Amino acid sequence: MLRLANKRIVLGVTGGIAAYKSAELIRRLIDAGAEVRVVMTTAAQEFITPLTLQALSGNPVHLELLDTDAEAGMGHIELARWGDALLIAPASADFIARLAHGHGNDLLSTLCLATRRPILVAPAMNQGMWDSPANQNNIALLINNGIQLIGPAAGYQACGDIGLGRMTEPDDIALAVAESFQTGALTGFHVVVTAGPTQEAIDPVRYISNHSSGKMGFAIAEAARDAGAAVTIIAGPVNIKTPDGVSRIDVISAQDMYAATQQCLERIETLDSLKGQVIFIGTAAVADYRPDTNATQKIKKNPDNPNITLQLVENPDIIAEVAKRSPKPFTVGFAAETQNVIDYANAKISRKNLDMIVANDVSNKQIGFNSDLNAVTIIWPGGSKTLDIASKHIIANGIIQHISSLQ
Ligand code: C5P
Repeated sequence: MLRLANKRIVLGVTGGIAAYKSAELIRRLIDAGAEVRVVMTTAAQEFITPLTLQALSGNPVHLELLDTDAEAGMGHIELARWGDALLIAPASADFIARLAHGHGNDLLSTLCLATRRPILVAPAMNQGMWDSPANQNNIALLINNGIQLIGPAAGYQACGDIGLGRMTEPDDIALAVAESFQTGALTGFHVVVTAGPTQEAIDPVRYISNHSSGKMGFAIAEAARDAGAAVTIIAGPVNIKTPDGVSRIDVISAQDMYAATQQCLERIETLDSLKGQVIFIGTAAVADYRPDTNATQKIKKNPDNPNITLQLVENPDIIAEVAKRSPKPFTVGFAAETQNVIDYANAKISRKNLDMIVANDVSNKQIGFNSDLNAVTIIWPGGSKTLDIASKHIIANGIIQHISSLQ
């Protein structure tokens, strides 16, 4: 089974007998690593209770568009932004018609209008309804609007008919959702990502570090893997699970990270099949300076001298050294700044000889170091592009998509 690790799926359940299979579908999605939030139409609640789907998804089920309590919890626009994909299973003929024509008269149809993420639809209806010209026209509209259809399958139907219109089985729907995240845009590439902070030792118990959580780097590694790349993440001290299928090298200091990066690139460069297809993404918040000596014993307080001086020396600039390699990997830097974000980012592109830089304003608490959200501007020699505030996973996918488009 392909993984859906950390993917957020909004599951829309509409009114049809196949709604009972949504319970099993939630299980399959969660087994594959996804987080699921369920939205039910009024008709769906005639077939299966919100309580069942709430218990299985582990999240409150969203039912009403005009419900102030629910909107206060997670508003419909927030819910649209939360999801990495919107899956509607089962999708009734009526809902398909409303989706095809852009209706926005209930929570689920509004989400379909508001989301900028992929919409996947698993139709379920009687075979006569499926074949009807009106439904087939609506299906053509969905396809034209870039909506992905899953099924329907053929076979026995609840009404006794045999034919096309059964909802695809939950296992196969989960697989199709997982596949929809595999773009293949970086197949054949090796992506090396640095992530997290570095720790620069002062003595055996103290160090200098920063607030980087590593979340952005791990999300980038995962998005690169989903795009088909072979991915290595070189991580400073962070508490994040390694995404499945990603190789990980743990390091502590900037010097360790520098050595690990150089060794990793040397190894990749010996792989004939990958020559010229290496992408380096420096998301790590590398300490620019380290104490010039790492005391062998804990530094003690000196009652005669309340002030001590730490002498700092410059660390290697990992990304600038990567950009000097021949052949040069496609080199992507990050510019986390608290002021003049774009100006500093542009300066960094030329100073470090980068092919692209991702700039963000870490002074904004909503999108700062430890947040799950980010908003960035991507700058490359040909232009710039802003990715509005969204989960770090969505931003990571946007960054990887952009990197792919520049290859
Ligand atoms: O110069 P500044 O630290 O702002 O540059 C940020 C970019 O450079 C990031 O991509 C970061 O990972 C990288 N960097 C590095 N080695 C350093 C300092 C920064 O790779 N010593």
